[in-house]
Amino acid sequence: MQTQLTLFEKPSVTMPDLKVSRSGTFVDNIALPVHRWFRYSAGFAAQWVEQVLQEWGIGHDSIVLDPFAGSGTVCVVCDALRIKSIGVEAHPIVARICKAKLLWKTPVDPFADFAAQVLKSARTQKARTSDYASLIRRSFDEDSLAVLESLKTAWSSLQDQSPESELVWLALTAILRPTSKAGTAQWQYILPNKTKKKVAPPLLAFQQQIELMKSDMRWMQSRAEQSRGQIIAGDARSMAVIMPKQVDAVITSPPYANNYDYADALRFEMTFWGDVNGWGDIHDKVRKHLIVSSSQHSSRERLKLEDLLETESVAPIRDELRQVVHKLAIVRESHGGKKHYHTMIAAYCRDIGLVLQELRRVCKQGARMCWVIGDSAPYGVYCPIERWIAELAVAAGFEQHHFEKLRDRNIKWKNRKHRVPLKEGLLWIEG
Ligand SMILES: C[S@@+](CC[C@H](N)C(=O)[O-])C[C@H]1O[C@@H](n2cnc3c(N)ncnc32)[C@H](O)[C@@H]1O
Repeated sequence: MQTQLTLFEKPSVTMPDLKVSRSGTFVDNIALPVHRWFRYSAGFAAQWVEQVLQEWGIGHDSIVLDPFAGSGTVCVVCDALRIKSIGVEAHPIVARICKAKLLWKTPVDPFADFAAQVLKSARTQKARTSDYASLIRRSFDEDSLAVLESLKTAWSSLQDQSPESELVWLALTAILRPTSKAGTAQWQYILPNKTKKKVAPPLLAFQQQIELMKSDMRWMQSRAEQSRGQIIAGDARSMAVIMPKQVDAVITSPPYANNYDYADALRFEMTFWGDVNGWGDIHDKVRKHLIVSSSQHSSRERLKLEDLLETESVAPIRDELRQVVHKLAIVRESHGGKKHYHTMIAAYCRDIGLVLQELRRVCKQGARMCWVIGDSAPYGVYCPIERWIAELAVAAGFEQHHFEKLRDRNIKWKNRKHRVPLKEGLLWIEG
């Protein structure tokens, strides 16, 4: 096993707020301009990203990469600091939201005019709500859905792929949850059977969202002249559009193994827009483009354990991985659901290995990385994910690493399927 090297015997970065600021609920960003345009549960805290960049002394001409960009926290922070950034995101609607956030430089007046035209046209639309999927019909009052439908029809008739039209699309997408009567569980699972108390009226919510975006655009425009971020709607396992040895620093958080099925993250929004029709579509349109991190993914793809173990990208950890996944293959036989955790863990390591090889290709020598990461124990079988990532990073050509634990996970045993303690923390990598 790779041991820590001197650079990280003491973490080179001390961040007093860090332990509270990496929140899985995105709460720290709700008050921050542009970040707050869309609430993405998986996001990490913008202020923490800013601290890391400052500690690292990242200058305006450096390039910062987030290969799992999500809602674009890293790129929006870089924009505010006038640093160049690249974000890669494979979930199509998440990538679109992320791209729209980087349009903050759009002049405010044309944006406001476009929104006003949508509102005006919506008033003349005859709304038909019966064609919506049951998830959508069950999640809204009839009247609210009729208003949202008329806004959507108005937007669709006016949209021209201009920055202002994309920003108004984002505004409408962002008000779907606040105007829905359905509850939202952890990780943005929509719960049509749970009614919430506070439901915003759609027209008011839309106007407020437009006002909020206008004020944030003015705020950003007073700080920076233009966005220096580039969002690639693509796959972190093959970032061919990024030239070799461009990147100075990486701040990222990949999906954790067996924590959450990201394909489901914005099913509600995608269903409203007609991008997917129910569960069946989710795999083909979203999940199969993501790294494998859920058992649904590995079972749908019918992955073969021995093929996965033979892939070159897991070679550095193959012996230990083989033992763990074979144990999982045995343990699953004693569980009713027979979930495909064994192939999921092997595919997860294959995919993370590929991402690290790509990062080595695009990063300069001496680049710095910070990964927010958690370990995993499906069926109670422990998988030392953060150590495996560190070993894969070294095999890819990075030199040093240090894991800094932030918190325990899975320690409230009630309702838990196993009692193996888990943790979450920062994996600092350099070289
Ligand atoms: C933990 S979230 C990142 C959240 C982000 N830090 C933020 O602040 O919004 C991980 C993201 O990785 C994305 N993802 C999964 N597989 C990917 C792949 N192969 N390439 C790029 N992004 C991927 C998921 O869709 C998800 O949005």
